[in-house]
Amino acid sequence: RLPVYLDCDTGIDDSLALAYLLAAPGVDLVGVGTVSGNTSASQAARNTLDLLALAGREGVPVAQGAEDWSTRAFGGGVPHIHGWNGVGGVELPRGAGEVAGESATDLLLRLSREHEGELRLVTVGPLTNIAIALEADPGLAQRVKDVTIMGGAALVPGNVSAVAEANIWNDPEAAGIVLEADWDITLVPLDVTLENTLDESDRARLLGSEVPLAVALGQMLDHYFDFYVDFYGSRSCALHDPLAAAIAVGGVVPTVAPAVAVEVDETEGPGRGQTICDLRGQRLGPVDQPGARTRVVLGTDRPLGPHLIELLTT
Ligand code: BDR
Ligand code: CA
Repeated sequence: RLPVYLDCDTGIDDSLALAYLLAAPGVDLVGVGTVSGNTSASQAARNTLDLLALAGREGVPVAQGAEDWSTRAFGGGVPHIHGWNGVGGVELPRGAGEVAGESATDLLLRLSREHEGELRLVTVGPLTNIAIALEADPGLAQRVKDVTIMGGAALVPGNVSAVAEANIWNDPEAAGIVLEADWDITLVPLDVTLENTLDESDRARLLGSEVPLAVALGQMLDHYFDFYVDFYGSRSCALHDPLAAAIAVGGVVPTVAPAVAVEVDETEGPGRGQTICDLRGQRLGPVDQPGARTRVVLGTDRPLGPHLIELLTT
């Protein structure tokens, strides 16, 4: 079974990613780290523990990571998108599990040794914890099998600024460190995550399910759909984080994903947080740049929505 480590800012779509990894066949979720983003790192840890309890998976260790980003203090999250508590205002039953006694960075480093050469790292929040781990122990890059990152915007506009996607925007300095490290990265940007959605019929299937976690996810989506009404013109939502999770474990396969140079804009100007992907020369089809180790996903083999709902409700 594939050992997977998830770093997240739980978050409604983070919750979907977590649920996906718990349900996906052949996947062994060995640990979760939290970071501030959609909500605080501590609230994200609480949410993760409660979701794991709802799934009967209290054994998965959850470690809290950075409350603040590399160069900026956490600003309080995005309650208009993810609710006051990060999970759409849904009061999850409090799980018995407690936050691990080690930091998210220490948990990741330890698990990278225990699963050396095997561990798949999936990040769906700001990259603060991963950058701290790389700085503490650069050998992490050699021990991890590969990294899948939900973040960035290659050829489409950003969602926080004209050019920046939220996970990169919140900590561009950390993203720069992670993207410069010597490991295989699959970047899952807004270009593809915005094309994968759930709608009210999917929500109804979650709410009608006999799986307690699926019902809770259906309740959370009520809030998330409100935010996306103006964007999609209907009550639906983007599947940012679960798409990265699905791609990491092969549930969805990238069909257009050239390996190219990707640079993060860390300046304080209007470009801050942009992921500058060098996609020149791709007109006739995907072409890998020699030496590039970051694949930018621009197309996938199938829509995630139906697969996700199937997995979560059975
Ligand atoms: C990303 O930002 C967060 O709000 C979501 O959970 C997702 O990880 C999308 O830009
Ligand atoms: Ca997230």
